[in-house]
Amino acid sequence: MYKSKIRGFGHFVPENIVTNEDLSMKMNTNDEWITERTGIKERRHRKDRNNAEETTTTYARKASEIALSKAGLSAKDLDYIIFATLSPDYFFPGCGVLLQEQLGCDTIGALDIRNQCSGFIYAMSVANAFIKSGTYKNILVVGAEIHSFGLDFSDEGRGVSVIFGDGAGAVILSASNPDEAGDILSVNMHSEGKYAEELVVKFPGTKLGWSDRLLLEPNIINNQDIYPYMNGNFVFKHAVTRFPETMLEALESAGKTVEDLDMFIPHQANLRIAQFVQQKMGLPDEKIFNNIQKYGNTTAASIPIALSEALEQQKIKRGDLVLLSAFGSGFTWGSVLFEY
Ligand code: UT7
Repeated sequence: MYKSKIRGFGHFVPENIVTNEDLSMKMNTNDEWITERTGIKERRHRKDRNNAEETTTTYARKASEIALSKAGLSAKDLDYIIFATLSPDYFFPGCGVLLQEQLGCDTIGALDIRNQCSGFIYAMSVANAFIKSGTYKNILVVGAEIHSFGLDFSDEGRGVSVIFGDGAGAVILSASNPDEAGDILSVNMHSEGKYAEELVVKFPGTKLGWSDRLLLEPNIINNQDIYPYMNGNFVFKHAVTRFPETMLEALESAGKTVEDLDMFIPHQANLRIAQFVQQKMGLPDEKIFNNIQKYGNTTAASIPIALSEALEQQKIKRGDLVLLSAFGSGFTWGSVLFEY
């Protein structure tokens, strides 16, 4: 069996910084509320929706090009793409094929993952299985989002729209020899679909039950359906329970303990969730990495952006034990434990 090694990493966020103060000009909110409840000070938003360089796939391409260069590989060396997003360029086809084309890869497989905040964990788990089985050698795993296109920036949407941001992160997962450092030691994935509507965007979807000519009929789509709905308190309570569960499961199945961990990178949902989990798990400050203060919650992109920044800042060294965990819409949650 092959080892799965993170060979390259990269991230991209748009230049346009939107502060809490900026949001308070659009809706009835303020820096104090946002900072106290979420820890977020600013996020990035796409500047120009008419710019072809500002789509979910182009953000992913920019992150992927950095990851490829750090890995010393070209797009032609890739065997497979796994793309996690909840904000794709089109309803279909998914972003995977668009990235295949933009990067100039061969006609390799491109898989789209729809697991929202847990998307990158699910994507890494699939990539790991392909690498370990010897099916593929070099897989591009990417999470990218443009949330700012579909949020309600009126007072009605303030509970959700202040949280989310845009960006992309990527890693190259490669097969390595048994004597090389670096391997994914355990993964786990979970879901509980009975809570699907606690954090949901309903449109466009077949459950809405409108006529066959839905998109041609004016005035039948309402705000509640097109914008994200989140039962914030409910999601929060489940998150702080599921995070420790999935973390311990990942550690135990690899024969490791919390003390063995060198770095924990949680999905950047809310700084308060991360702090609660940190305390519950007894992790010192230097063993957790958060950057939600700068980027908000970028769902599928949050873990690879944070991982890329932590690696850039040399907070993770070769041989370190690193845990990635996520919880979000679905509900879905899970972890990836690896030795870097
Ligand atoms: O990544 C996906 C997973 N998502 C999460 O993990 C998010 C989990 N949930 C949360 O992070 C929190 O529930 C939120 C940050 C979303 C909300 O915090 P909360 O403490 O649960 O606030 P709340 O929704 O209970 O609202 C409290 C008050 C309400 O006012 P009243 O009814 O008490 O008068 C809201 O209307 O805060 C009000 N409020 C705001 N005020 C200022 C809601 N949003 C805002 C806002 N600015 N942006």
